[in-house]
Amino acid sequence: MNNFQQQILQGIPETLPQVKEFDPKINHAPKRKDILDTDEKKLAIRNALRYFDKKFHVVLAKEFAEELHEYGRIYMYRFRPDYEMYARPISKYPGISEQAKSIMHMIQNNLSYAVAQHPHELITYGGNGAVFQNWGQYLLTMKYLAEMTNEQTLVMYSGHPMGLFPSHQNAPRVVVTNGMMIPNYSKQDDWEKYNALGVTQYGQMTAGSFMYIGPQGIVHGTTITVLNAGRKISKNGEGLAGKLFVTSGLGGMSGAQPKAGNIAGCITVCAEINPKVVQTRHSQKWVDEVYTDLDQLVLRVKRAKEKKEIVSIAYQGNIVDVWEIFDTENVFVDLGSDQTSLHNPWAGGYYPAGYSLEESNEMMAINPDLFKEKVQGSLRQQADTINNHTAKGTYFFDYGNAFLLEASRAGADIYLDSPTFQNRKNPPLTRGAVGIREFAYASYVEDIMGPMCFDYGFGPFRWVCTSADSKDLAKTDAIAMEVLEKLKKESPEEIQQQMSDNIQWIKGAQENNLVVGSQARILYADAEGRIKIAEAFNQAIKKGKISAPVVIGRDHHDVSGTDSPYRETSNIYDGSQFTSDMAIHNVIGDSFRGATWVSIHNGGGVGWGEVINGGFGMVLDGTVEASNRLKSMLFWDVNNGIGRRNWARNKGAVFTAKRAMDMESKLKITLPNLVDDTLLENLI
Ligand SMILES: NC(=O)c1ccc[n+]([C@@H]2O[C@H](COP(=O)([O-])OP(=O)(O)OC[C@H]3O[C@@H](n4cnc5c(N)ncnc54)[C@H](O)[C@@H]3O)[C@@H](O)[C@H]2O)c1
Repeated sequence: MNNFQQQILQGIPETLPQVKEFDPKINHAPKRKDILDTDEKKLAIRNALRYFDKKFHVVLAKEFAEELHEYGRIYMYRFRPDYEMYARPISKYPGISEQAKSIMHMIQNNLSYAVAQHPHELITYGGNGAVFQNWGQYLLTMKYLAEMTNEQTLVMYSGHPMGLFPSHQNAPRVVVTNGMMIPNYSKQDDWEKYNALGVTQYGQMTAGSFMYIGPQGIVHGTTITVLNAGRKISKNGEGLAGKLFVTSGLGGMSGAQPKAGNIAGCITVCAEINPKVVQTRHSQKWVDEVYTDLDQLVLRVKRAKEKKEIVSIAYQGNIVDVWEIFDTENVFVDLGSDQTSLHNPWAGGYYPAGYSLEESNEMMAINPDLFKEKVQGSLRQQADTINNHTAKGTYFFDYGNAFLLEASRAGADIYLDSPTFQNRKNPPLTRGAVGIREFAYASYVEDIMGPMCFDYGFGPFRWVCTSADSKDLAKTDAIAMEVLEKLKKESPEEIQQQMSDNIQWIKGAQENNLVVGSQARILYADAEGRIKIAEAFNQAIKKGKISAPVVIGRDHHDVSGTDSPYRETSNIYDGSQFTSDMAIHNVIGDSFRGATWVSIHNGGGVGWGEVINGGFGMVLDGTVEASNRLKSMLFWDVNNGIGRRNWARNKGAVFTAKRAMDMESKLKITLPNLVDDTLLENLI
């Protein structure tokens, strides 16, 4: 047994490891708000010490108090392992259960330096999207995974491994909950407080569910979004050549935008305030050029427009400045969006205009009220300048980061009924939402993803080759392409575009060099596509064509996984966008149909308290059992959402529900009867 394996099996070490120096070269989480009172701080330390033998308490109590004071959280830095953190080939993990070893592979990928945003604070993406709250939880979880059999289930409460419980072969090996709160305790400050106490965490979508595969996951979704946004603004069927897409953020998810812009064929300008983040994405070749001077940026963009170049440009600075200079210099923006982390507005997700990164980081820790004021002022300023652009014809969409939600809370001028929009020659149209004040701009799900993808069952299916071997990934790409090409020939007109876009994507996937971290791939597929691809992988593993198990899963941002009124379910207009039955049913249904692990989270994507989202991971090992599980679970995993979207009267989903029933005689979905609206006119 090698040193790595010994350390995994040891779990929490029996002797105290050396204190770790704080490494300034690493991108660290910002200092969190000082929210606990004195008694609560003692409780946080008492809670943290639960992981350790009493003989270490004197040393650790002092150290944890310092961490709490210095960083606003207790990360237990000293216990960060010395071995390299990355997704090793499955054979390198100690253990009894191949399923559990696959999960270790996924966890280490979520924490690897190439992938994680703040690796030392166990944050994968989105500023606060945590895999674990502290290193004690990591060590204990890995030990449990290495010890467990296929007759046990590991139970995880917000990063804390509650323990191994007896179960059975077909039960999930791990059940994860993140941030599940009593509903009245789900405000932003509740996260600050209970996370500081060490009793909950924000798992984002795929961080706390171990399913994050680096920015590739979102490159694909973003490419589809930009392509379809381009189709929306196309007047004569022309493509995106020479058109300009302006947005912000080069972080975990947002970092995919420039690359997606290149694949979609436009000019992308993406502002990012953090130089370390710009540097990472530039060195990874996810963005072509970097500018720090606004005048030079304007000249460069004008030249790119003239020559219809396909190029992605990072502006190292604040997005508000880009929108403003493009307005005053009359640089026409065709497509506009924003992907700062506004699900986390007061703790480093959004940096206000007029302040440097350092000034903002200091202000949010020392004077959080003033910082909040500055963020809100900046959002109002940003909305005003975006409004100037949209008056000239820019198509702006909310990109699922709670931009419109937070801007509205800041008092920005973004409501549909405001004179700014109603006095326009062509005021924006209502999208049919009832009971809420509608925004002037649509979310990308309302306009693009919902009606074009989710309602037809298309969503972010993904897989990871646990051999960590790129040759296996290439084989899976070829298999997936073959399956999709075959399916496309029999597909109805309604999904032909989706099929073509995804075949195109998988053909270019290797050339586009998308892998960061584990050997993973994503594509959008419907229930039939997902099942056929997964089954073909399982057969290839059985025949030894693929050398090790493949994990399949998906982003929570999907047809069925997420209830989020301002994002995934924003194109649901029967009032049920504020319910979360679908996500809960999803995870329960997945768990008894054979998922290897399931997760349910409060708050992924748009923020704590704003969304419930769930997901799964499933290990394909070439067995008959895996084949049965994948068919049963994937069929449910997609058609649950189809049933619900159909009941909300979404046309595409009604079509897909009927098609699914034709394919599977045991499926009976309740279909809606449509009402003639004239009947309702004089009733009330
Ligand atoms: N559309 C989707 O499909 C989708 C999917 C997942 C996440 N999201 C949401 O998108 C947002 C971004 O996610 P992420 O993982 O990239 O987060 P991130 O925190 O890793 O990146 C956001 C980046 O924005 C930068 N930034 C903040 N304010 C800025 C400003 N005013 N000007 C310039 N740069 C600024 C930050 O420095 C940071 O690097 C989150 O809210 C996330 O929930 C959207």
